This record gives sequence, C-alpha cells and structure tokens, in this order.
Amino acid sequence: MKYSFEEDLQIISDHITKFDIQISHALVLGGAGFLGSWMCDALVRTGSQVTCVDNFASGLPVTIKNLTGNPLFQFIEHDVSNPFNPEGPFDLVIHMASRASPFEFAHHPVEILDANTRGVRNALTIARENDAKFLFTSTSEIYGDPFTVPTPETYRGNVNTIGPRGCYDEAKRCGEAYVTAFHRQFGLDTRIVRIFNTYGPRMRMDGIYGRVIPRFVSQSLNNEPISIFGDGLQTRSFCYVTDQIRGLLTFATRDGLSGEVINIGNNSEITIFELANLVRRLTGSSSELKFELLPEDDPLRRNPVITKANRLLSWEPEIALEAGLKKMVEWVRGTSLQ
Ligand SMILES: NC(=O)c1ccc[n+]([C@@H]2O[C@H](COP(=O)([O-])OP(=O)(O)OC[C@H]3O[C@@H](n4cnc5c(N)ncnc54)[C@H](O)[C@@H]3O)[C@@H](O)[C@H]2O)c1
Repeated sequence: MKYSFEEDLQIISDHITKFDIQISHALVLGGAGFLGSWMCDALVRTGSQVTCVDNFASGLPVTIKNLTGNPLFQFIEHDVSNPFNPEGPFDLVIHMASRASPFEFAHHPVEILDANTRGVRNALTIARENDAKFLFTSTSEIYGDPFTVPTPETYRGNVNTIGPRGCYDEAKRCGEAYVTAFHRQFGLDTRIVRIFNTYGPRMRMDGIYGRVIPRFVSQSLNNEPISIFGDGLQTRSFCYVTDQIRGLLTFATRDGLSGEVINIGNNSEITIFELANLVRRLTGSSSELKFELLPEDDPLRRNPVITKANRLLSWEPEIALEAGLKKMVEWVRGTSLQ
C-alpha cells in the first residue's frame, strides 16, 4: 500500500475544523523540521497565514517545498538564537526550533543551549509585542532518567547536568523557566508541552537524528544489522505524528489554558527489543539484531501520564504503534526524502 500524506494531513485538518481552531497568523520557529513542517502544512491548509523561521540546522528545505509560493506562507531563514523582528501581527507563536537528537547533542551542544534559552527569550519577546499566545515545545527529556514511571507533569526530574544529554535537557528546562517567567512577570498567555517520542513521515532518515525509529526502519529495509543499545529492555512510548500535531494545536489555542504544562505522547510502552522485532516483521527484513554499548544516561523507561491532556483537551492518541509504523515504512519505501 502507498503512503498518503494527503490522508494524514486531512486527519489534522478535520480536527482543526471540528474543534473550530482559529488562528489568523502563526509564527512557527523551527517550521522546516519534522514536526514544524506538519504544523505549517496543517495551518496553511485550513486557511491560516504562517510565517516559518528556520536555519536548516536539522530541518530540510524539501519539507516545506510544497508550501513555497503559497500566498499564506512566508519563509525566513534565520537562527532564532539571534534577535529578529518578523512582520506580524501574530496571534500565535510556536517555538519548535531545536536540534533534538543524541547525535546532535554530541556535535552541537552550544547551539542547542542557545536555541532553547536565548532563542526562547527572543520568541517570547515577539509574542509579547504581538500579544500572541505562545507555545513552547519542551520534552520528556526534562524528566531525565525518571524514578516515577509513568511520569506525570508534577515530576521534577532526575537530570545529569553535565552528562551527554545535559545540553538538551537543561536547555529545555531553562526554556521552560523563561516561558514561566514571561507568564508571571508580564501576564503572557503561555503553554508548555512536554513532547514524548514522536515519529512519522518527514523524519530524517539519513542518520543525523540517531533516533530509534528512523534507524530501525532504515536498517531493516536495507537488511543491515539492527543496532540495539544495551540489552534492549529499556522502554519507550511512541506517538504518531498526526496524534501529536492534533494535541499541539488544541493545546496552543484552547482558551483558559494560559500557564499550563502538559505531556503529549502515546502511553503505550514497548521495549526497544520488541520494537526491533516489530519493525523487522513489518518490513519483512532478514536483519540480525546487533547489541551495542548503552549510551551514558540513556533513560531506562519513558512513558507519559496523559490524563491531564485528556482532561484539558479531550485528547488521546488514536494511532496504534503498528499502524503508525506501517505508514512510516510505506513512506520510506516511496520517498526521496531519505
Ligand atoms: N520529535 C520528537 O519526538 C520530539 C520529542 C520531544 C521534543 N521535541 C521538540 O519538538 C521540536 C521539533 O522537533 P522535531 O522532532 O521536529 O526536530 P527537527 O530537528 O526535525 O526540527 C527542528 C527544527 O528546528 C530548526 N532549528 C534548530 N535550531 C534552530 C535555530 N537556532 N534557529 C532556527 N531554526 C532552528 C531545525 O533546522 C529544524 O528544522 C523541538 O523543539 C524538539 O525539542 C520533539
């Protein structure tokens, strides 16, 4: 079966229409990335104007190619860590601009710290000047290697400041503190979402992410050994992209949620070993499993409590892992974006 981007985009568009989500002009920072490009596409499709800012640190021009030339879409190439003054007015500012993968933690820690601290401050300033709602895409990584799993929003984290993931985890924690400061001091309408592992079409497959699903799918399709870190008994919970974007849009726009913090992710937990076997089965691969050294500070378990998202947004994930992985595999088989 062939993957249909149109069908997935329609799921998000239907959600926007059903819940009467209205945005006149959104500023999407990091809009040429995996999640950002889905966000831009969904908004433009439902009639919102979108200004996308990205420096292609980890995003690719091809992800926004279909929007180029659309009168509702404007692209600005810029590093959000440096101040800027895009032309509004905006009613929503979304900060998604951050490299977000283990490979990048190792190679670009300073840029990651800047994007989520100085970059967040720059974005907050724009939101304040425009009196816009503000959404910050934080991460489950702010919980570090949690002692409480499933992990609720009230958990304060177990993070190694100076470990290999510290640049990302602490940057996002500082970003959250900036967002909260603008909310408290200036009354800005802010929302913080802690995204748990999300996957789907448009993820980069070239290894730059070092994220587990693109790696397993790519290795399986090429019949290369599937590299499992440690014994593979560590767990993750994977959310399909359409579920994530539906949640983000509802959270960003629903009235009465200023200052709120929520987890958005899928709460169905799977071991990495099980994931490898599932991907192998879905791709009909003959790949062997290869066990490698567990990276330092790799979290043992990741599983969100999502009752708050469910209560505040009437949101829950709808795409089961096997169904989402099938879409991902079909997309990889049919795409040139690899
Ligand atoms: N996908 C996930 O599972 C996940 C999980 C937790 C949090 N998040 C967060 O969601 C956001 C989007 O993640 P993604 O998965 O789409 O990653 P991504 O790498 O595909 O997208 C990030 C985008 O931000 C851009 N960017 C990075 N630094 C920038 C800078 N200084 N100036 C301008 N643009 C910059 C990149 O070029 C890229 O287009 C990130 O903030 C990430 O931390 C994602």
